[in-house]
Amino acid sequence: MGKNFSIATVSLLLLLASTNAGQVFDVKSYGAKPNGDITQVQTLFTLKTNCLESCVSRAYELGPVTLLGPCKGAIEFNLQGTLQSPSDVESFKGKDGWVVFEKIDSLTVSGGGVFDGKGQTAWQKNNCAKESNCDKLPMNIRFNFITNSIVQDITSKDSKFFHINLLECKNLQFQHVTITAPADSPNTDGIHIGRSSQINITNANIGTGDDCISIGDGNHDITINQVTCGPGHGISVGSLGKYENEQPVSGIRVIGSTFINTDNGVRIKTWPASPVGTASDMHFENITMKNVANPILIDQNYCPNKQCSNESPSKVKISNVGFKDIRGTSSTQEAVKFICSKSVPCQQVVVADIDLTYKEGGSTTSTCVNVQPTTSGKQNPPACT
Ligand SMILES: *[C@@H]1O[C@H](CO)[C@@H](O)[C@H](O)[C@H]1NC(C)=O
Ligand SMILES: *[C@@H]1O[C@H](CO)[C@@H](O)[C@H](O)[C@H]1NC(C)=O
Repeated sequence: MGKNFSIATVSLLLLLASTNAGQVFDVKSYGAKPNGDITQVQTLFTLKTNCLESCVSRAYELGPVTLLGPCKGAIEFNLQGTLQSPSDVESFKGKDGWVVFEKIDSLTVSGGGVFDGKGQTAWQKNNCAKESNCDKLPMNIRFNFITNSIVQDITSKDSKFFHINLLECKNLQFQHVTITAPADSPNTDGIHIGRSSQINITNANIGTGDDCISIGDGNHDITINQVTCGPGHGISVGSLGKYENEQPVSGIRVIGSTFINTDNGVRIKTWPASPVGTASDMHFENITMKNVANPILIDQNYCPNKQCSNESPSKVKISNVGFKDIRGTSSTQEAVKFICSKSVPCQQVVVADIDLTYKEGGSTTSTCVNVQPTTSGKQNPPACT
């Protein structure tokens, strides 16, 4: 491995700790040397019987690493400085994550530090707009099979692909997480949640080139509270129905959040010609829109870059959805748009207390296809005109 993987000074500061025993070990005693190869650090991270605490207080380069449990006790990953990813994609040798936490219970990631994905050159190689099975680029931080854990006070910057990805996590809280990347950086979703439950994201500030938060299939009991999104493509459930064997989605709450200059606000998106699926019990409440292009959107014909050959209706059934107390400004006239599936129309959609103007004070419109929402309270735009 090349120079980019040098961990000369990192090794001095990475500590291995068993928090149960209150002991802290310097990694140097585990064989990491100045100018050592990153594989030595990976070996440390994958020691299954130990727990890990790492403190880094300056900027350091770090190659791809997996912190693999299970561990004997709680783990703390405390990052106080900036970790910089190699900027070239080749260094990842096809790996889809830069810093990967896997199979850990009681993990805390904190410290105020920055995970800098150095995505600029990778973005130019992104071919996902042209190829639906595009080359996989690494994500900044992956949480795979993480339980009963907290992620707080960290920043993810300029990821090559999604910033943070959750796979099969349970009871994981995110607090005060910051995510930044340019508005035109491709597929830089802020936090993508997959097949997880009991996930809370509060007080996050996310500005990126794709969805601020995207909620994929198989998720239950997800609460997003006091999140600021923008720039970006909004907070989305989906996209759903692209693949076979997707699991149901239920129990999604997006509350107390603000969208600024985003392409979408709150959105549910499913692909046409999809396999059968369901998404239910999804609630969007107490939300402020500032200059948002599509503030409220259900799109069951979701097909970015016209990648779909078959335009038959989506078979993902959407039901029990609430849009309540949503106010602010839309940058387009059509502020509310429900395009539901002809084969499985949306059911139990409730729209209450909506006050959206076109820019400052202009009138807005709504479009409804294959849905008959129940309305109450203020309706600006008039529901389903
Ligand atoms: C997560 O959010 C839900 C709903 O707001 C709340 O009931 C629950 O207590 C939260 N969990 C934690 C650990 O904060
Ligand atoms: C609505 O959300 C704001 C944050 O955007 C919060 O301060 C306020 O307490 C929330 N209101 C209610 C009724 O929950």
